[in-house]
Amino acid sequence: MGAVDDRVADAMRRAARKNFLPPDQRPSAGADRPLPLSHGQTNSQPSTVAEMLRLLDVPEGASALDVGAGSGWTTVLLAHLVGPSGSVLGLELVPELVDFGGANVAAAGVPWARVEAAEAGALGRPAQAPFDRILVSAMARELPDELVAQLADPGVLVIPVAGRMLRVTRGGGVEVRRLGYYRFVPLR
Ligand SMILES: C[S@@+](CC[C@H](N)C(=O)[O-])C[C@H]1O[C@@H](n2cnc3c(N)ncnc32)[C@H](O)[C@@H]1O
Repeated sequence: MGAVDDRVADAMRRAARKNFLPPDQRPSAGADRPLPLSHGQTNSQPSTVAEMLRLLDVPEGASALDVGAGSGWTTVLLAHLVGPSGSVLGLELVPELVDFGGANVAAAGVPWARVEAAEAGALGRPAQAPFDRILVSAMARELPDELVAQLADPGVLVIPVAGRMLRVTRGGGVEVRRLGYYRFVPLR
């Protein structure tokens, strides 16, 4: 776990949170709490992001899906974890955040990561599945089968569901571990 922790901490040093915030929020970048983006959405709390990335245990070269890319921060953090031999697809529902997050990702110098608009009525991106790792930064009411179906074998999905963080692993069968309690904006 030590080595994994170091990789997450290193990724967080390389992708400074302030570069993913609206100008009026940048002075608060060091605060360990969610910060407002626009349209009622938030840039997640850094300690929660770090915890989710540790749970995701992202190997170099992985293909990752980032559902709820928002500011693009998690997309770029994942990009540093997978490295240039991997790929990251960030999906976002709010068009203005697709532009904002997409521009932040483009400016981060990680061309193996991108942000695209989520397709209405389709969760994730089944056409590009399977993904080795799936990170979801918005709260689902129940574990979405359609995201589990987009997980590679082996693969890991980290998603908040009904107040709890879930770590879902596929390795032959599917195993679900329920972890701590968290708050997130809703997955729509
Ligand atoms: C906590 S916020 C953004 C966190 C983001 N990872 C960051 O680092 O800034 C969660 C985002 O999920 C988006 N969202 C909600 N449901 C979604 C869906 N079905 N597909 C894609 N994005 C979704 C929201 O619009 C919101 O921007």
